[in-house]
Amino acid sequence: MFNYLAKVKTRFFCQNCGYESVKWLGNCPSCKEWNTFAEEVIVKEQPGSHTWKTNGSQTTAIPKKLSEIDAETTLRLVTIDKELNRTLGGGIIRGSVILIGGEPGIGKSTLMLQLALTLKDKKVLYVSGEESDQQIKMRAGRLGLDSDLSFFLTETSTQKIFQQAEALKPDILIIDSIQTMHSSQVESTPGSVSQVRQCAGELMKYAKETGTPVFLVGHITKDGSIAGPKVLEHMVDTVLQFEGDMHHAYRILRTSKNRFGPTSELGIYEMQEKGLRQVQNPSEMLITHNTGDLSGSAIGGTLEGNRPLLIEVQALVSPAAYGTPQRSSTGFDTRRLNMLLAVLEKRSGFRMGLNDVFLNMAGGIRVEDPAIDLAVCMAIVSSLEDIPVQEKNCFAAEVGLGGELRAVSRVESRISEASKLGFNTICIASYGKKVLSATSKNIHVKTFKKLSEVFSEMFG
Ligand code: TYD
Ligand code: MG
Repeated sequence: MFNYLAKVKTRFFCQNCGYESVKWLGNCPSCKEWNTFAEEVIVKEQPGSHTWKTNGSQTTAIPKKLSEIDAETTLRLVTIDKELNRTLGGGIIRGSVILIGGEPGIGKSTLMLQLALTLKDKKVLYVSGEESDQQIKMRAGRLGLDSDLSFFLTETSTQKIFQQAEALKPDILIIDSIQTMHSSQVESTPGSVSQVRQCAGELMKYAKETGTPVFLVGHITKDGSIAGPKVLEHMVDTVLQFEGDMHHAYRILRTSKNRFGPTSELGIYEMQEKGLRQVQNPSEMLITHNTGDLSGSAIGGTLEGNRPLLIEVQALVSPAAYGTPQRSSTGFDTRRLNMLLAVLEKRSGFRMGLNDVFLNMAGGIRVEDPAIDLAVCMAIVSSLEDIPVQEKNCFAAEVGLGGELRAVSRVESRISEASKLGFNTICIASYGKKVLSATSKNIHVKTFKKLSEVFSEMFG
């Protein structure tokens, strides 16, 4: 008994970032969070009991010249999901490990199931540690999809998963979710840092040795009580974030790390009754085509990653009912809103101090791009003066503290998006004019130096 106890080896792990320590620490030296250390039992890996072996024979890598290495483009697996292909940089790479993180209920399992059931001629093994076979079948029924080449396994032990994978030899392996998996190599409970790291390590090894792409689903919790995908981010090849507002239908798939492509790409989906629908032309959905007689609405040309996106900004300005006026915004930074209101008050003489201001970005999208500033100001002034912004006008400029308009990046792609969607005028900063070439044929590009110039042009 005593002997057994002596053999138990424990370590302390930061549950936030996975930092390992031999003793308990109050403050994590790595991520600086307080009170995040928890003790986990670890058992040293016994030599010879490897968890994934390719028929026992370890292949030794030999040095190669660049010319001897296969170009990766030939190895990409292109799915029918254009948004996913785009986000991954053109398709799924052989042997890569892709982590999909996101809050519970955002649609990660739905996305993976749709992928599994729509891949043609590819054998997929979908391992679920969260849902029963029946639940998966029900979900597939809802999606209206079926495939003879998709296999489903409800299992949480990595060793058993590898046994099945060895027999089935799938072309793609999906693990939903990494937090539910456990390996017999480590004693701690599923979801703990050492368990998550061990399982991910084994799955990485499987992916690299067999060339099978592996998708890992990972939950993020707000309180950080289970090991979030942060620990995994260093290990895997690609990290995708699935985000969106739970109360809206739009979901954005964003790359935050990609060893095989750019990280600026993103995919946009809409959650519908029958699953996730790819949104090829997001701008069209983010603009409500009102008849142009409604005040307080303006269209801004923003960029999300590399994609130009036209977003409708709605503002409501009304006399404050109480002494302190309210300022509230959805999808836009409230501090930035306060700054813009101060600029409007000080530089253009609008009496904002007596009014409540409510601001809303259409579709539950969160906009960080400063190019939306001008559209925000237009929407606010339009609501205050009760004059609608002219139809088919849109705006793309940052507003400075002096009430001056600043140029924004990649203004040409914003202009061409606006032109594509049938806008006939776009207002930009005159400093951005220099970079313009002949792309803007069907659209009138108006340039301004100051906010007040735009107001007199638009509202007279
Ligand atoms: P899910 O994929 O289970 O989320 P995650 O795996 O990220 O936890 O998605 C669950 C949500 O998606 C749930 O609230 C219901 C919704 N949903 C639809 O609206 N339509 C559908 O066809 C499906 C399958 C799910
Ligand atoms: Mg799920």
